[in-house]
Amino acid sequence: MRDERWDRLTFAVEALQKRLREAPSAALMLGSGISDAFGIPEGGERISCADIPGYPAPTVAGHTGELWAGRLGRLPVVIQRGRTHYYEGRSMDDVVFSTRLYARLGVKTLVVTNASGAIRADLRAGDLVLITDHINMLGVNPLRGPNLGELGARFPDMSAAYTPRLREIARDAARAEKVELKEGVYVATLGPSYETPAEIRAFRAMGADLVGMSTVPEVIAAAHAGMEVLGLSIATNLAAGVDPDAALTHDEVIETTRRKGADMRRLLVAILERL
Ligand code: HPA
Repeated sequence: MRDERWDRLTFAVEALQKRLREAPSAALMLGSGISDAFGIPEGGERISCADIPGYPAPTVAGHTGELWAGRLGRLPVVIQRGRTHYYEGRSMDDVVFSTRLYARLGVKTLVVTNASGAIRADLRAGDLVLITDHINMLGVNPLRGPNLGELGARFPDMSAAYTPRLREIARDAARAEKVELKEGVYVATLGPSYETPAEIRAFRAMGADLVGMSTVPEVIAAAHAGMEVLGLSIATNLAAGVDPDAALTHDEVIETTRRKGADMRRLLVAILERL
């Protein structure tokens, strides 16, 4: 049966393949803050998402919507700078479009990064955290609707969505780089408002350590398509109410991301070298 989601991906894959010198084996998805800190590697190919038919256009001014393709070390990778969030009002098909695009290109490993609020008491603003699992509080699932059977199963297993082997590689890379890497469970909320202190207490009771507004749809779509996933977060601030005297601001999120961006970059490069 024809599926317009499949056809939309096919057009994009064909356009992108014309621009790529080789098929990437890993995709690195960077939130806009972390992509600024990461910078653009030497060489390679810069591809504007506007040149990829069907690619969701960024709705937030200043979000670049750009891919970089090339080699980091020995590994052919594609780096996505900026992502689509559900809170922007886009469809779930838009939110997971790039993830599925990478799956169609043959990418085996998806590395996702984000900024988050720290719920667990021992976490500090600025901590780098390995995501071990997630809780989906978005109220939606990107796989809702007819199953894209060419990509994966109707009822995909999520019991090891954050691939244990890749988590081991991340721990190893962090030790080698002397970067402290904590671990935690990420809960995704819809946003764009930050959470209330009562919501944060509820999420803590549920077993969440970090809270953010992204990543979970992409990880579900990646698991569906059989990709291995690694998730890394910068805890940019204490979640609402954790410090009763503090208010949350986007400026703090940006500032902490900037401060820790270089460590995150070093860690990511060391991880990619080990894939
Ligand atoms: N809540 C939700 N999303 C976030 C936060 C937060 O505290 N910090 C960074 N992204």
